[in-house]
Amino acid sequence: MICLGIESTAHTLGIGICKNGEILANARSMYKSAKPGEGIIPRKAAEHHSEIFPTLYKQALAQAKLTPDKIGLYAFSEGPGIGACLRTACAAAKYLSAKHRKPIIGVNHCHSHIEIAKKFTGFKDPLTLYVSGGNTQILVEEKKSFHVLGETLDIGVGNLFDSFARELGLQFAHGSAIEQLALKGKYTELPYTVKGMNLAFSGLFTAVSKKIPSTSKEDLCYSLQETVYAMLCEASERALTLTGKREVMVCGGVAQNKRLQQMMGEMAKEHGAKFGVAPNEFNADNGAMIAYTGEILFSRGIRSKLKDCRPRQKYRSDEVRLRL
Ligand code: FE2
Repeated sequence: MICLGIESTAHTLGIGICKNGEILANARSMYKSAKPGEGIIPRKAAEHHSEIFPTLYKQALAQAKLTPDKIGLYAFSEGPGIGACLRTACAAAKYLSAKHRKPIIGVNHCHSHIEIAKKFTGFKDPLTLYVSGGNTQILVEEKKSFHVLGETLDIGVGNLFDSFARELGLQFAHGSAIEQLALKGKYTELPYTVKGMNLAFSGLFTAVSKKIPSTSKEDLCYSLQETVYAMLCEASERALTLTGKREVMVCGGVAQNKRLQQMMGEMAKEHGAKFGVAPNEFNADNGAMIAYTGEILFSRGIRSKLKDCRPRQKYRSDEVRLRL
């Protein structure tokens, strides 16, 4: 089986190709705001995705050294994500599936982050901390779906970092700009909100933004990272104790942060659990993870109907059907 996967939930258009679990291509292009301080403008990001699609499609096929007739399955990220952006992957996959008379399969974006991280870590049954722009969840896999043990009660961690970076006037990519400044900072107190295994970040954003005039950028970035990652570690540790899992994994865009990896790694070690994370290329949004997950689902007998395929902006990980 050769599967072509299309990702377009937010700022990245990704087209990846997998053959029996092996990644043959992973072509990506990211929409960048025209002005510093500007977030993702859905219409412009969607324009970027549709304009770059033909180039990226050819690039992915060239990387894989394949012609279109060799593709046996088209996978696309169904959601969650930004409606206007999601439409690109869905429409393109539907068109390619109909044109080449090959099956189509919708993939949950969160699920694909988890599957690709499992591939690279070799983990079979991990406790996962999934951290990205719009999502923050602590979850485990059950027979038919995911069980969300804890999650953000307001905004995603990546959203918090992006919003704060824009307040500071930092350049994109915001997460790595904050990580760099944090290396030279010292601690200043910020609010800390963990409720069992759930978390809240919007009050923290308000508090750290209010401190901008009186505190250095370095100190604020350091303190924000330390506070957020301590919150994530505390909630994850509680989930680890509760579930007794032996593997801990971090995935999603924010999982690229070295300090988070270090703190989560130490927490896992204290409990005698293994810790793992995928390479950065596969924690950022990408098409290979969609292709890889599409292949897994298809091999389990799960099918999507062309006429039912549509973007699902609020598609939760615990709505995913993992097995028949
Ligand atoms: Fe993502």
